[in-house]
Amino acid sequence: MTAGPCTLVILGVAGDLTRRLLMPALYHLAVDGLLPDAFRIVGYARTEVTEDELRARLREGIVAQVSSALDESRLDWLVSRVTYVQGAFEDEAGFDRLAAHLATLDQDAADGGHHLYYLATAPEFFEGVCRQLGDRGLLDESGGAWRRVIVEKPFGRDLASARALNAALASVMDESQVYRIDHYLGKETVQNILVFRFGNGIFEPIWNRRYVDHVQITVAESVGVETRGGYYDETGALRDMVPNHLFQLLTLVGMEPPSSFQPAALHDEQAKLLQAVMPIEPSACGVNTVRAQYAAGRLDGESVPGYLDEARVDAGSGTETYAALTLAVDNWRWAGVPFYLRTGKRLAAKRTEVVIQFRRAPLALFRQSDVAAPSANQLVLSIQPEESISLEFAAKVPGPEVTTAPVRMRFCYEEHFKIGGRTGYETLLYDAMTGDRSLFKRADVIEAGWALVDPMLQAWEANACSLVTYPAGTDGPAEADALLGRDGRRWRPV
Ligand SMILES: NC(=O)c1ccc[n+]([C@@H]2O[C@H](COP(=O)([O-])OP(=O)(O)OC[C@H]3O[C@@H](n4cnc5c(N)ncnc54)[C@H](OP(=O)(O)O)[C@@H]3O)[C@@H](O)[C@H]2O)c1
Repeated sequence: MTAGPCTLVILGVAGDLTRRLLMPALYHLAVDGLLPDAFRIVGYARTEVTEDELRARLREGIVAQVSSALDESRLDWLVSRVTYVQGAFEDEAGFDRLAAHLATLDQDAADGGHHLYYLATAPEFFEGVCRQLGDRGLLDESGGAWRRVIVEKPFGRDLASARALNAALASVMDESQVYRIDHYLGKETVQNILVFRFGNGIFEPIWNRRYVDHVQITVAESVGVETRGGYYDETGALRDMVPNHLFQLLTLVGMEPPSSFQPAALHDEQAKLLQAVMPIEPSACGVNTVRAQYAAGRLDGESVPGYLDEARVDAGSGTETYAALTLAVDNWRWAGVPFYLRTGKRLAAKRTEVVIQFRRAPLALFRQSDVAAPSANQLVLSIQPEESISLEFAAKVPGPEVTTAPVRMRFCYEEHFKIGGRTGYETLLYDAMTGDRSLFKRADVIEAGWALVDPMLQAWEANACSLVTYPAGTDGPAEADALLGRDGRRWRPV
């Protein structure tokens, strides 16, 4: 269904996110007929460009990203919706111009005065920009028009800063107006975790400690820090990935069935799951966490430098580019089932997946034979690069002898539904326009995540757990293998 009329205000319209992800996503929505006729885009940034130049740039960005045949008329329509206000985030006069521009646009009332603000900029500007908007009444919903703000990650860099950001947002708007975005949640497979678990009768009965041996969550990247060395060196893998992407997957896989698919019900269950995770005390960080940095290595046949030789990285940096942890979820469903999480840069491949490893069969059938024990069933929810679900099970190898081999049943989104090339932002932008907050993150869920990560950050910063290295282009450090190995388990290869 087409979204209702509204104006999307992109604060940071000249940036990479807008060009590479937001505009292509809006284009896909336009092609799918999901954008209203009364839709406008107002851009705000410092860059001195004319509206025509900005439109040409954004058009180029869409053409470069879209893989399917271009629908020129929808593309023309979309870029024709763009207007621009030039100004800095620190500049009161710039926001006055923005407010005046919006007031003029609102006069024709076609968009109903509904505004969706997108903070497509670095996090240090989030508070200031929201205050500027609030001061000009742009977040005021008392006139009947809705006003929503999409906030990009990162949502703080520790518990204290996340709380401060949430408090700053709460001082100028209601929590219901805040849409904290994590674009992983726009991926079909991520959303499908809920449908898969709760929409199918066969999986939920076995989704618990009685049948599940352990869970692995992997977010592996093959890229290094590229041009983001300065930012990354201040951040590290733990902060950058764990409280957002990995915990998002953890909550969807681990949470209890919500009473409905309403946002509040989903968010309540996500918060409860995080509250059930046992914090890793600083004294246990040496045992339950692995902190590592990539050294020089080879990837796709090419030599690649180590982290310390990357541009804008401190030569003596102790920042981790890899993190692995074992978490215990202390509730009725998961007691005794370890959740192993890992993420890293410059690994052998780009891969995001959740592996549910089931317990082994009792083996009674094979006791008398010299057949190797069949491997345990694995359900793999693959999120990147391909969006798919596969189930591994043992089958008999044809022939007179009884031997088994693991085989796979596989469902691939793109092949089945014939959709591809989506950025993940399509669903999220559409949901924000239609007021569905289910896939956005609530303040308390963010804080519950940071509350778990904070003790690890502190222990790591105090060097309570030594920093190890791994060669670029591998599956990570040997210490991460040992983390599972001592429990008699193994990572699924990256
Ligand atoms: N890029 C991605 O792939 C990606 C993916 C996920 C999330 N994100 C998040 O999205 C946000 C934006 O990332 P990005 O990559 O688009 O950053 P970026 O390329 O650096 O763009 C930042 C934008 O903010 C504007 N800006 C910066 N300082 C400003 C100031 N003082 N006053 C007014 N405008 C200012 C810039 O405008 P001028 O150029 O005119 O100065 C530019 O339009 C970040 O929070 C990032 O973490 C990015």
